[in-house]
Amino acid sequence: MVTNVVAVVLAAGKGKRMNSDLPKVVQPVSGRPIISHILDNLKVCGIKRTIVVVGHRRELIKPFISGAEICVQKKIQGTADALREPLKKLKNFKGTVLVIAGDAPLVKVSTIKELIRVHENSNSAATILAGIVDNPKGYGRLLRDRTGKVIKILEETELDERLSKIGEINSGIYCFNLRSLSEGLKDIRLNPRKKEYYLTDIIAIMARKKEKLSSFAVKDGREIMGINNRCDLARASSVLRRRLVDNLMLNDVTIVDPDMTYIEAPLEVGRDTVIFPFTVIEKNVIIGKNCRVGPFCHLREGTVLDDDCEVGNFVEVVRSRIGKLTKAKHLSYLGDVKIGKSANIGAGTIIANFDGKKKNKTFISDDAFIGSGSILVAPVKIGKGAITGAGAVVKRNSNIPAGKTAVGVPAYILKKEGKNGK
Ligand code: UD1
Ligand code: CA
Repeated sequence: MVTNVVAVVLAAGKGKRMNSDLPKVVQPVSGRPIISHILDNLKVCGIKRTIVVVGHRRELIKPFISGAEICVQKKIQGTADALREPLKKLKNFKGTVLVIAGDAPLVKVSTIKELIRVHENSNSAATILAGIVDNPKGYGRLLRDRTGKVIKILEETELDERLSKIGEINSGIYCFNLRSLSEGLKDIRLNPRKKEYYLTDIIAIMARKKEKLSSFAVKDGREIMGINNRCDLARASSVLRRRLVDNLMLNDVTIVDPDMTYIEAPLEVGRDTVIFPFTVIEKNVIIGKNCRVGPFCHLREGTVLDDDCEVGNFVEVVRSRIGKLTKAKHLSYLGDVKIGKSANIGAGTIIANFDGKKKNKTFISDDAFIGSGSILVAPVKIGKGAITGAGAVVKRNSNIPAGKTAVGVPAYILKKEGKNGK
């Protein structure tokens, strides 16, 4: 349990290398803004107080910050300068300040907790979250003395050929003792080349004062990658996706080809469900037990599949619930519809849910049989066991009674016939 820790998230920078009108921290990774991943993880860690430092285009970031305090960095003058406002708020605080770069969404909850534990147990002035990466270019590197103690963080611009071979990088995530941090910040000078105040300079300052410095290393360097450009965005999404997929498979879900399956969190999938390749599942989807999904299926936000459903090739579902044992196996658009149990949605069924102004709802009852190529112009109600003939166009506000059959364009109700004949 994390008790006396305040987290400060640095999210004021421009993110120049992203070349975007959006600030970097709201760029989506795996369907959600980078900053949302970070704030969620801090909550899960049990950190009660978080301060987010915003600056560049802050009006676009604020909607994604809930449950955290906000500080504004008026002029974007570097990661050390970014801490000045939050520290003013922490005058009466005694404890650990966790500083976390707003562009590192892959750091795991377990790692943050361990960093805090190492810091507090060692009673250090600062503990750096570090790691070894294949390509350290662009990152700050940890410089150690002969005994292995950290004495400095060198930024890319400060490296000569020999030093640039150091593979141990700074994640931009640290724990600080508040008093040491406040004192150290006072001594940081403007970096003459970049015209910024580098937080990383505090390490050499603390080392000179013989304050205790520690580091904690992640096992897999990808966890601490910072997102600077759109290639990084795609890489980070892929790492998160792989984690999700592995997690599902290690539980009880079959994913036939993990590399060819795109999924986003949050996602719930029940036991023995099989997901076939080229399936795209966006966030906020719930899939029951023993379903078959895909190949080439697109489940969008608000989709719920009850147990034993089959949703197959080229079927798109959004804001809809599909009942137990119902099948929609080919070429359909199912938007804003509630479908009961054991219904069959024929190939090529389209729910025309949008009337040009708003989305309308459709209800399809248990055991209904929607013929191939049917178009249901919402709002529509299809009764229990009712049938639509192939190619039927069911007009808006229609109500096909239970057991009846509707055919034609526009659809009319046949006398007497139902699912089981006359
Ligand atoms: C920083 C570290 C580097 C580390 C890397 C890890 C410094 C000087 N360098 O470099 O050692 O290896 O992160 O990814 O800290 N920000 C502000 N205000 C500012 C500047 C930045 O809030 O004035 C925020 C940014 O929005 C970003 C974070 O701080 O979320 C890091 O800034 P960024 O410019 O990405 O730093 P790097 O150059 O990647
Ligand atoms: Ca960065």
